Amino acid sequence: MERKCPTSFVIFGASGDLTRRKLVPALFNQYIKGRLGEPIHIVGFSRRPYSNDEFRQLLFEGMQELAGVVPEITDWKDFSGRVWYVRGDLNEKQDFETLRTFLNEKEGGFCNRLYYLATTPYFFPMIVNHLGEMGMAKEEGGWRRIIVEKPFGHDLNSAIDLNSSIHTVFDEHQVYRIDHYLGKDTAQNILYFRFLNTIFEPIWNRNFIDHVQITVAEDLDVGHRADYYDKAGIVRDMFQNHLLQLLTLVAMEPPASFDADAVRNEKVKVLRSVRTIALDDTIRAQYDGYYETEGVAPGSQTPTYAALKLYIDNWRWQGVPFYLRSGKALGTKTSEIVIEFEAPPHVMLELPEDYELTPNYLSLCIQPDEGIHLRFETKVPGSLQETRSVDMEFHYRTTFRGEALPDAYQRLLLDAINGDASLFTRSDEIELAWRLVDPVITGWEHSPEASPLVQYSPGSWGPLEAHAFMARDHRVWRLGCGEHQDS
Ligand code: BG6
Repeated sequence: MERKCPTSFVIFGASGDLTRRKLVPALFNQYIKGRLGEPIHIVGFSRRPYSNDEFRQLLFEGMQELAGVVPEITDWKDFSGRVWYVRGDLNEKQDFETLRTFLNEKEGGFCNRLYYLATTPYFFPMIVNHLGEMGMAKEEGGWRRIIVEKPFGHDLNSAIDLNSSIHTVFDEHQVYRIDHYLGKDTAQNILYFRFLNTIFEPIWNRNFIDHVQITVAEDLDVGHRADYYDKAGIVRDMFQNHLLQLLTLVAMEPPASFDADAVRNEKVKVLRSVRTIALDDTIRAQYDGYYETEGVAPGSQTPTYAALKLYIDNWRWQGVPFYLRSGKALGTKTSEIVIEFEAPPHVMLELPEDYELTPNYLSLCIQPDEGIHLRFETKVPGSLQETRSVDMEFHYRTTFRGEALPDAYQRLLLDAINGDASLFTRSDEIELAWRLVDPVITGWEHSPEASPLVQYSPGSWGPLEAHAFMARDHRVWRLGCGEHQDS
């Protein structure tokens, strides 16, 4: 009888937070839905001296505490029977040999393998190198894939170096660079909304759109991650990846198919067309009290908030500004994209001189109140000529009642197992994104006066300067999703 080919999912850095918070809950959820395929082996690799049972218990508790997933005991028993632990040091070549022997025995021959790099980035080249030395990347009798967590590099040069050390061992078709924003259903829906409907696409261009805003706001501060964050800052942590990925989805041309390369080629064209960002078009800020956080360097100039304006030099978007902003410790958590349309060319009503008509805008609500809102003007009933802005709203929660939106990792891990790379970033995308943000980061370092670091209060909507930044262009920041008001 033909033996089914097993898949091994190997996690480097298995004792870390990400494994319990994201990876194992995602694998568990897909496993109980029967989507992972059989047989599957989930193998944790790390330095801590756990037995298989101790590791399974750690995952069981972590899933509940960190991810709020409370598994049915029978499901958990079934799933955890597929989980193994191999103790090893990432520095030691012989520990990779131990891992290889373990996997070969479990698999009973060459089969499919997915390696997940969930360690700190420092170890990425070393792991890849050891996998290469041990022949563990060779696709003999089954596929070999590698998922690389962010941050992918610290700047353009380190990203190029990392890509080239990965490429000495793995071919690009084996590499899956994760950006969890692409795993969010609402981010994927941007393409569905744009290209499976005919209403908006004809006006999705410079002739009808005044400008676009992308906001990724977080109410949490840096918490316990200051060691990492203080060296990274908001642009590396959020703009180089998540915000620029959202930008590509909003701005790209329709791909001919949903094939990974067709989609990614279009995204790359957008990134290539972005004009160098002027320092004058950036704001950087730090929330009050940040420097008191443990792990933050004294006198740290690391921004926890940034806003910038950029232009895409192509036919569709010539002259349309894109405003991007993101920050920690803000008033609320929301990720949304606002497409603001042109004002009416002529208003036939006799409105008071200081009356400002709100332009139409479309809000793509990525999270947490997932949906789409369209704002337009209406006549107030019974009034002579009074108008009011109202919303036409679609909410996932009410429309798809009972179907909770899956965590991004569920989709991404499954796609990587199934060999679909369309929601993963290609090497050229990563490098182009760094090419865009590097001059901003270094510009701030070398010419701090061009965009001085300003302060903002935790719980606010960012620094006052960010509002002045929009006012300079006679525009305002908008928040179109959820209950909150324009910021
Ligand atoms: C991560 C950043 O990539 O994204 C974090 O490192 C940030 O700093 C997180 O909090 C935000 O993700 P989400 O899905 O909560 O918006």
